[in-house]
Amino acid sequence: MKPDDEICYCYHVSLRKLRNYARRERPRHASQMSECLGAGTGCGWCIPFLRQIAEHAAEADFTLDQSPEAYAAARAEYRERRAAEKQAGDRKEGGEA
Ligand code: FES
Repeated sequence: MKPDDEICYCYHVSLRKLRNYARRERPRHASQMSECLGAGTGCGWCIPFLRQIAEHAAEADFTLDQSPEAYAAARAEYRERRAAEKQAGDRKEGGEA
């Protein structure tokens, strides 16, 4: 991943912004990364990656070891899976088996 690649697609937060935030604020808990432009408060996909960025706050050039394309594809699969789970849950609540 390059610095300007988005990590949080929901809020369009780049790796650079998140790294700078983590370096400046040194979050004690990964959940504090959400204070950086709302990262992680949408679909939830990026939360494990926000955690990694927070843990490596001292490393100015920390990056995620995957291509932006692979990252985007994995997120798309995550969203499809979540949508299917929600649909199945809605059907169950609606009385269908
Ligand atoms: S991609 Fe970050 S919350 Fe959805």
